[in-house]
Order: sequence, then structure tokens, then C-alpha cells
Amino acid sequence: MITSKELREKWIKFYEERGHVNIGAVSLIGDGTTGVMFNVAGMQPLMPYLLGKKHPAGTRLCNVQGCVRTVDIDSVGDATHFTFFEMMGNWSLGDYFKKEKTKWSFELLTEVFGFDKDKICSTVFEGNDAAPRDDETAELLKGLGIKEENIFYLDKSNNWWELEGTVGTPCGPDNEWFYPRHDTPCSEHCDVNCGCGRYVEIGNDVYMQYKKLEGGKYEELDHKNVDTGFGLDRLLLFLNGLDDGYKTDLFAGAIAYLEEVSGKSYDGDEKARKAMRIIADHTRTAVMLIGDKNGILPSNTGAGYILRRLLRRAIRYCKNLEIDSEKMTGVAKVFIEKVYDTAYPLLIEKEEYILSEIVKEIKKFEATLAAGIKEFEKCVTGIERKNAFMSEKDLSYVPETVISGKQAFRLYDTFGFPLELTVELAAERGLTVDEPGFAEAFKVHQEISKAQAAAAKGGLAERNEITARYHTATHIMLAGLRKMFGDKTEQKGSNITEERMRFDFNCDHKMTEEELKSLESFVNGVIASKIDVVKTEEPYKKAVENGAYGVFNPTSDDEIVSVYTIGDVDRQICGGPHAKNTSELGKFRILKEESSSSGIRRIKAVLE
Ligand code: ALA
Repeated sequence: MITSKELREKWIKFYEERGHVNIGAVSLIGDGTTGVMFNVAGMQPLMPYLLGKKHPAGTRLCNVQGCVRTVDIDSVGDATHFTFFEMMGNWSLGDYFKKEKTKWSFELLTEVFGFDKDKICSTVFEGNDAAPRDDETAELLKGLGIKEENIFYLDKSNNWWELEGTVGTPCGPDNEWFYPRHDTPCSEHCDVNCGCGRYVEIGNDVYMQYKKLEGGKYEELDHKNVDTGFGLDRLLLFLNGLDDGYKTDLFAGAIAYLEEVSGKSYDGDEKARKAMRIIADHTRTAVMLIGDKNGILPSNTGAGYILRRLLRRAIRYCKNLEIDSEKMTGVAKVFIEKVYDTAYPLLIEKEEYILSEIVKEIKKFEATLAAGIKEFEKCVTGIERKNAFMSEKDLSYVPETVISGKQAFRLYDTFGFPLELTVELAAERGLTVDEPGFAEAFKVHQEISKAQAAAAKGGLAERNEITARYHTATHIMLAGLRKMFGDKTEQKGSNITEERMRFDFNCDHKMTEEELKSLESFVNGVIASKIDVVKTEEPYKKAVENGAYGVFNPTSDDEIVSVYTIGDVDRQICGGPHAKNTSELGKFRILKEESSSSGIRRIKAVLE
């Protein structure tokens, strides 16, 4: 049995013996220069050097680098996909190229690790407009003793490596190494292209000699680099003759712990096995992200949201496994204390913090989970009822099977359900989720929040008599809108300067000329009536009972709020400041009415 610790050492030793300097690992959290959220590859921090800058450690480098990739999150639960993994890497920065690299990778696999050269498969680039077919590598591989029938030419989608979604970054064709998990082909055509899962990629050598430009074009670099990445987690599995990554020393402790606390068997119970794998994988990644030197915490945006999704998915699988979710801290402890104690000593230092943040997220999620599940059941029952009703009436009725984007967004926004949780729950009921609809609802929500933040800033930035008058005008105008369109009309954003007001509100149509005229004369009527604007302070609940409204989230019913009353025209909960009397406002004139975002209209108006 070779352990993960020994494997890291072997990798570094092999390349140090060949003139490489171990540059150590960097943070898992992307530094923002590439637009990639996490460190997804060992080459990421080396980008400037691959493009030609001189590296202080020289032209031959190696390390073992933690990476987080969440694109395959749905595959986690099988035997070989992980959201965190360690990539063992080495680089030539304009130094050696294909001849040395193919030889060393082959030597390492066969001589150091004892892989059977007759079973190793290798794939190379078949060529396209940007770069030629890589016959050179294929010839070198044959020369080393790899069987011709085990060498495959594949297209760009397989044998070209670049950081997706980036421009100005180094890239190139690659040579990938595959090994079979067992010796039983699923058919006579079972090779690296087969989808049966027998062949697993264990690593690749990228010949980085191009720079990615705008519009899918490539430019040849002045010097040719090698960028190698071999997955530690996967290699470990082969080296130990296993076909399941969760049986290596990286995961064995976590799985044994989960077996103990659940009383279920990993080998004997398929459902429990999947849950254990997901809990172990996601907890490990969460530990790494929270415990990183630039550690992050769960949140609703960016990298924090990915962390939240991982934790919440793991929490849900604790329920499937019928264990208390706080047992996840036991899993975390195994990783921190037993598995990564020497490779990532910072985790030990931050242990208490990591564990307490995991518990906090568990508590937060559990507080809303039950309510969210109820809400989810309501959606399902709604669909089922409709289907039952309609199919009785209409024999050709096609039953509805989709949870709407709005419903999924409500589960996300109000109940903290990550989208894939709703998708998973839906799948269990034979339903799907309108994911583009969710994305649309998400976008609208973001625009509203942005508008509200800008409104808060705009309102506070300049407090003087003129802006106070505009502020009062927005209250009167909103009262007018509510008269016209009903009480569901709300302020969705407001931005006030000394020159004008801009006000967003929900409305399902473009306002007509008549509606705008009538709104204008309503506001001017209130101004002409010279009504006092009266401020009172009252407990939130009482204010609402007295007919006040406003965008306000009280911490309790008793919280004291300010209410501004304009006669019997309007009563709003609001921080002020306001004009003393509506007569101060002058003449109100609407300049423009336009769409702000879907379902939100915007009025620009002036006081003259
Ligand atoms: N950059 C290559 C990879 O990430 C080595 O697989």
C-alpha cells in the first residue's frame, strides 16, 4: 500500500532529481487575475512565466497543488470524481520539450510506479487549423514502448488544454495518459473512448506553445513550455490496485467514521455509499476552502456560494444517511488531523474556526430546511392537482412536469435552497426544474438589489432641502401609483440628486400617456393642497396596523420606526429626511417613463 504522503514525496523526488525546484503550493482561491474563481490547475499561478516572464526559481519547476473544480459536481458520488484534488505538477519554462517529457512521464509510470507498459494508453492531438497533428509525440511514445494500438489521435475537445473562458492565457495540445481500472473490456471496442468507465485519465502533459487570443484565435509563443498535471487522488487508486478512490488513505478514515456513526455499510448498501462519498468529498473541499490561507466563508455570491452549495448538499445527504448533520465536523476532523496534517499544517491551526463555521452553516440551513421542504411540497402538490384536474377534463392533456423558475428562485431566495437541491428533490418526484427560468429570476433579483443599494446610497449621500423635497415627491408619486395600480405596487429603487429623481417600481405594462398625465396632476394636486408632512415614531407592528407601508425589514415587531404621514394621502415607514409641507415642492413634471428590468418600470421626474 502506498500512502498519499509517500506519493507526494515520490513525485517531488523524481523531478528534483531531474533538476526541478519544488515551488510549493499557492492558495486555492483564485487571485482574480484570470477570472477563474478557484485554482483549477497547477499552471494557474504560473501563467506569466508560461507567457515568457523569468521565474525566480529557474526554468524547471515542480509542486503538488490543491485544486477545486466544481463543474463535475453532479458526478461526485461515483468512484473517481472529486471536487477537491491535488495535482502533482512539473514545468519546463522554455527549457526541455516533448522528447524529455514523454520519456520522464513514461519512466515515472513504469519504473517508479510499476504500471504495465502494455496497458498504458496515450492520446495525442489530431490537429486543426490552429495547430498541426502531433505525430512527433506519437512517434516518441512508440519509441518508448507504448503499443501502437494504444495510441489514439483525438480532437480539440479531448487533446487541447486551455483555461475555459479566458483570453491571453497560455495553452496547447496535450498528451493524456490513461490506464484501465480492470482487465475486462465491456465489448470488443472498449478503449479510451469508451464510456463504460474502465479507462481513467491519470494525467496529462500539455505542450504549451500557444497564447489564446480574442475570437478563438491562437498565436505561437516565443518559447515552448511543458505543463504537466497528474491527479494524486486518482494515481493513488491505481497504485494500490483499487478501483474506488474512496478506499485510498485519503478517504478511508472519513468513510470508516461515517460507517460507524450511521451503522451502515459502505460496501453493502449502495444508497449509503453514494451519500458517504458526497458527504466526504464535499466536507473535504469545504475544509480546504475555509481553512485556506485566503479562506472564504459560505455566502450567497461567488466562491462563497459554491462553498454554501457544497455544504448544503452534504447536509442533505446526512439526512439520506440518517445521521445528524453535525457529524460532518467529525468527518472534517479526520481530514484535518489524520490526512492533511503534514501537507496542510495550516488546517490544524485553523481547526476550531473551520469546525465552528461548518456548524454555523448547518444551523443556518436547518433553520430553513423544514420550511423549504414544506414549500417544495406545496409546489409539487400544486402541479399534481392541476394535472389530475386537467386530465379529467381533457384526455389529450399532457401533464406538467416542470417546477417553474420563479418557484425555484423563491426556494433559493427565501429558504436558502441551492438550485441543485431543488433539482435533486424534483428528480426524486419525477419532475424537472426550469433552470433558464431560475437564471432569469435570479438576474431580475440582482438588478433590483443593485437598484436598492444605489437608492440607499443616493438617498444618503446628499441630504439637503432640495433632495428632501424630491424624497417627499417620491412618496406622493408612489401613493398616486398605488391608487392607480393597487397596493401591490412597491418602490423597487430610488435615486435622487439635486437635479432630478429617478424612481423604480413594479408594474406589468408601459404606462400610457393618460396614466402619466393623471399621475402628474395627482402629485401637483397634493402639492397645491399644502399638506404638512408629519413624522412620528412608533413600534413597527403598530405602524403597519395604522396603514403604514414601506420597504423595511424589522428585527422585531417592537422595533421603533419613523413614519412620515402626508395627510390622508400617504403613510410610509422611512428614514427621511422630508420637506415640512408639500407646498415647498414647486411643480412636479415627469420627464420619462421607461423599463428598468423585467416587470420594473422607471420614472424620471423633476421639481420646477
Ligand atoms: N494544466 C493541465 C491540467 O490541469 C496540466 O490538467
